[in-house]
Amino acid sequence: MATAKYPRKILVTSALPYANGSIHLGHLVEYIQTDIWVRFQKMQGHTVHYVCADDTHGTPIMLRAEKEGVTPEALIANVHQEHSADFSEFLVAFDHYYSTNAPENKELSQSIYNKLKAAGKIASKTIEQFYDPVKNMFLPDRFIKGECPKCHAKDQYGDSCEVCGATYNPTELINAYSAVSGATPIRKETEHYFFKLSECEGFLKEWTRSGTLQGEAANKMAEWFESGLNDWDISRDAPYFGFEIPDAPGKYFYVWLDAPIGYMASFKKLCSDTGLDFDEYWNKGSSTELYHFIGKDILYFHALFWPATLEYSGYRTPSKIFTHGFLTVNGEKMSKSRGTFITARSYLEHIKNPEYLRYYYAAKLNSTMEDIDLSLDDFVARVNSDLVGKFINIASRTAGFINKRFEGKLQPVADNKVVAQLKSSATIIAEAYEAREYGKALREIMHLADSANGYVASNAPWVMAKQEGQDVALQQTCSDALEMFRLLTLYLKPVLPKLAFEIEQFLNIAPLTWDSVDASLTNAHIINAYEHLITRIDPKLIEAMTEANKENLVATAQVAAPATAPVHVTNLAEAEYISMDDFSKVNLCIAKIVNAEHVEGAEKLLKLTLDIGEENTRQVFSGIKSAYDPVTLVGRLTLMVANLAPRKMKFGMSEGMVLAASDENGGPFILSPDVGAKLGMRVK
Ligand code: MSP
Ligand code: ZN
Repeated sequence: MATAKYPRKILVTSALPYANGSIHLGHLVEYIQTDIWVRFQKMQGHTVHYVCADDTHGTPIMLRAEKEGVTPEALIANVHQEHSADFSEFLVAFDHYYSTNAPENKELSQSIYNKLKAAGKIASKTIEQFYDPVKNMFLPDRFIKGECPKCHAKDQYGDSCEVCGATYNPTELINAYSAVSGATPIRKETEHYFFKLSECEGFLKEWTRSGTLQGEAANKMAEWFESGLNDWDISRDAPYFGFEIPDAPGKYFYVWLDAPIGYMASFKKLCSDTGLDFDEYWNKGSSTELYHFIGKDILYFHALFWPATLEYSGYRTPSKIFTHGFLTVNGEKMSKSRGTFITARSYLEHIKNPEYLRYYYAAKLNSTMEDIDLSLDDFVARVNSDLVGKFINIASRTAGFINKRFEGKLQPVADNKVVAQLKSSATIIAEAYEAREYGKALREIMHLADSANGYVASNAPWVMAKQEGQDVALQQTCSDALEMFRLLTLYLKPVLPKLAFEIEQFLNIAPLTWDSVDASLTNAHIINAYEHLITRIDPKLIEAMTEANKENLVATAQVAAPATAPVHVTNLAEAEYISMDDFSKVNLCIAKIVNAEHVEGAEKLLKLTLDIGEENTRQVFSGIKSAYDPVTLVGRLTLMVANLAPRKMKFGMSEGMVLAASDENGGPFILSPDVGAKLGMRVK
């Protein structure tokens, strides 16, 4: 297929990941989906810019930084590095990866706000909000907890109950308390700024009609219109980590106001770094294309607030919003107790090769908003059978003969029906990529790989190689097979860019673009020595990965337990064993709980005083409040890690860790020694 007549100019974004957490396999659905599309468009010869950034503002990030004793700036700088490394190792190739906490974003956010104000789209209103009188701050709903008004479960969030699923207002919670300080929140009046979304309905209906959304998303929009559009609260009171609103001291933009503007800011920085023209892509009436890839949970922001913000501040609106569904693992929501809440880093540590996941996601992705399932057994089977068994197999069964018998030299492609079939499929594959029907593209490609394998099998070069006078035929068969391999590589390149690069080196050819379909490996072209390019996934690696991500052993001294070592140790990868030396570093000893009490304002913790013998006592904050009445603990023996570095927590120093076990069915259960053990004894 020839490249389109004019190069299209396309700006593409993925949603900006929050800077308060690690990238996980769910996120990667989106970044891999976008990256494949961008790489495909670039191979078509179009001009494409792919930008993204960390979403850095808001209360959770501010509070997390405070808890860790660092500035928010230091926290987000760290996360930026972590996220950038994760993306680059998964071969997600942004043209620019920025931060929303950047001067370009501040300037754009403030100027967009001023334009909205000048257009009469900003109103101010005094509202009542929850306020933490100890911490002196207004509380977002998520930071208010209390007893569920329906089922009376304790410690539920201000908007919904995780036990019975009820949704309600924070005002309805029984014994509400601030998750920040534990204090009882009071109601306090404050002036907020609103974007008058209610006045934008006409425009938004028009915008939706112009084919900007998938069918399901357009239906969602219709529901939202049906229930009426409310004005959007875009301000938050200090203290808030974000940008101050012009002429409104102490008032900050709500994070969702400046987050999508971060798309523009990231691109603006790319423009100033490379000389691109920002206005060409953002001015009203621009002939360039603008696409946002997002997950279905943030459609509301991208299909309502964002186009309205752009429209009434005088910018162009998005050409299309591409919304995908959510990742499930083995048919269920990612879960820490099942070990299926897997970070990008953990995948890399265990499975290593990011292209397996890229391939599997691509095989599962289509253009709808349906959820996609990562079935771990199917993942192994699919990757091993398609990539190793079908694709790489073509080269591994033919390249050796060319290398050994013909000094790497090829014959020009003969009149070969399979090669012709492969070439004539270029358009249908390109159309599938363009339409984000990657599953369809890969089915087509694997169907072609089957034909190529059929060709190799029926000509059996390994038989020819043993027969006299078959040299020409042998060289021809292998050359044709390698031409098929070249075409398959081209088609898979958006999904497997690194493998494609290695194959380009092996075939000794220039980087493949979509135009390379029309070329062929030529007469006497010399390939390089074939080295095995990809290996099968060992299912044991998957087991080790899920085991390592299971949160069975609760690090009870910490409020948020990190993913800790597995207790059901089966089939560990070698790198995951610890040595006797490692283990002996841990001073595990028997301790007696001499005091246990509630901690004012702490939702999960009990304060324990532990006697470990020889007149040593330790104070430990342990996350076992949900399971134990403190008085029942006093006097009993338990196991503790006595040489854990003391940790400063909100309520005081914690000087060790009490061992307890739990999973989704219950716990935590404190561990006890057998009868006869004495306090102070060490575990050896
Ligand atoms: N910061 C906002 C986006 C601001 S865009 C101006 C945000 N961040 S996020 O980190 O929670 O999510 C980033 C993207 O990853 C979103 O598009 C979200 O839908 C997607 N996903 C996060 N978890 C996901 C799954 N489990 N499955 C698929 N996509 C998911 O939202
Ligand atoms: Zn409830």
